[in-house]
Amino acid sequence: GAPVEVNIGKAEPGQLVRVEWRGQPVWVVRRTPEMLASLEAVNDQLRDPNSDEPQQPEYAKNLHRSRKEEFFVAVGICTHLGCSPQFLDQGMGEYVEGAETGFFCPCHGSVFDIAGRVFQGVPAPYNLVVPPHYYISDTTILIG
Ligand code: FES
Repeated sequence: GAPVEVNIGKAEPGQLVRVEWRGQPVWVVRRTPEMLASLEAVNDQLRDPNSDEPQQPEYAKNLHRSRKEEFFVAVGICTHLGCSPQFLDQGMGEYVEGAETGFFCPCHGSVFDIAGRVFQGVPAPYNLVVPPHYYISDTTILIG
């Protein structure tokens, strides 16, 4: 499939922009300072906090799992059996203590933080996949 351009110039802080790439949903989340600040707080509840698993691109192997801290890019498919996780932008206290925002998969209850990092004790085996992407300008990301 062809690479897909995403214009992030108008994304509001806290907003999730959805595009399709190779028949898959891809999300771009413009994270707020509060979202970024929450990443460290949940590290010890995660299965692979530093994304050491080999299926992650090099630029996902860090706390924020992205090329630029502010923007998180991920394939919006649960790594368990492929359902679509929901964006919990109003808090996820019902599912996880200490995590302000993240993603919840309704199929079997997997929970991911706002960097797509999977929590321990849920069925999903690894973090949400970060697709190959790069910035062609400050406001445009090319996926693929
Ligand atoms: Fe998401 Fe099973 S498909 S938890």
